[in-house]
Amino acid sequence: MKRIDLNYQDYIGQGENSDLLVSVVEFDRKFDSYFNIEYQKVEQAITNTDESTYQGIEDSALSTSYLDYFQMYTDISQGESLVDLGAGYCRGTLLFNALGDKRCISVEREALRSRAAVLKCENDILIADLLDENFRIPLAENYFIYLPVDKVLYSIFKKIIGQKIEANFYVIESHGDLIDFFQFHKELFVEQEFNIKTSLPRHRPFIYKFKSKIVSNEKISNLTIDNLSLWHLYNNDKDIDLKISSTIPGSKLTREWRSSIKGSHLIRYNNRLCLSLENPSRIIDFGNGDQILSIIKKD
Ligand SMILES: C[S@@+](CC[C@H](N)C(=O)[O-])C[C@H]1O[C@@H](n2cnc3c(N)ncnc32)[C@H](O)[C@@H]1O
Repeated sequence: MKRIDLNYQDYIGQGENSDLLVSVVEFDRKFDSYFNIEYQKVEQAITNTDESTYQGIEDSALSTSYLDYFQMYTDISQGESLVDLGAGYCRGTLLFNALGDKRCISVEREALRSRAAVLKCENDILIADLLDENFRIPLAENYFIYLPVDKVLYSIFKKIIGQKIEANFYVIESHGDLIDFFQFHKELFVEQEFNIKTSLPRHRPFIYKFKSKIVSNEKISNLTIDNLSLWHLYNNDKDIDLKISSTIPGSKLTREWRSSIKGSHLIRYNNRLCLSLENPSRIIDFGNGDQILSIIKKD
C-alpha cells in the first residue's frame, strides 16, 4: 500500500458532507480490518471506566479517519515524525508505517487498543500514561492532539513547556473547546495558516495547525494572574480561593464574593477569554468589569 486508492481521495476533507459519512466510516473500517483491528471486541474487553478512555463510543467519534492521518502525512516533511498523544488504535502509526518515509509514534494508555499496532510496529508504540509526571513526551517535529480539554491536556501542555518543545501541533476539535484552549495560550502557541478540512464530521470541520514556542523559566517562576491562561494551567489543581468583584447586571453596583479555583476552566464567552468557576457556578468576564481582587492560598 503505497498510496490511498484514488477513488477514496474524493472523500478527503468531506466531513461536512453527511451523504459521505457512511462511505468514510466504511473506508476506515476496511483499513481497520486490513490492520487486524477488531474494534467491537476490543472495546468490550476494556475494563477501564475512566471517563477519558471513552470506552465503547462509536469508532468514528473515538478515532480520526485514516484519510486525515493521510492529510497530516502529506503535510509533514520527508523524514520527519509525528507523535500522536492519546493515540487510540494507533491508526496514524499503522498508516505511516505502511506508506513509509515518515514515522508516527503513538502514545496510548489503553494497551488493548494498541495491541494490533504493537504486533506490526512495536518500536513506534509507547504504552504510557500522559498524566505520569515522570513520562517525557518523545521529541519530534510534529504532534497530533484529538483530546478533550481536561487534566490530560493540562499535563501535556505542562510537559511541552517543561521539555521546551518547539514543534508543529495538528489539532482536531473534540468537544467544542479544544481549539479555543490552544488559541488562549498565545504565549505557547502560534496558529498557522492551514486550510485543511476533516473527513469525518467534527465540532469544527478543520485540522488546525499551531507552532509551539519556548516559554522562559522566568515566566513560569513569576506567574501572575495577569497571565491568566498560564497561571490557570499551573494553579487550577491547587487549594486556592479567588476573591472576586463582579458588577451586578443592570446596575453599577458591585459585589464581592469568593470561589475555589478547583474545577474551574477557561472558556470563550462574549467572544473573549473568561474563567468559568464551578463552586459557585459563575463565569468571570474580565471584559465586562469582573475583577480578581486577591488570591487566597489555603495551605
Ligand atoms: C479521542 S481518542 C483519540 C485517538 C487518536 N488520537 C485518534 O485521533 O484516532 C483519545 C485517546 O486518548 C487516550 N488517553 C486518555 N487519557 C490518556 C492518558 N492519560 N494517557 C495516554 N492516553 C490517554 C484514550 O484512551 C483514547 O484512546
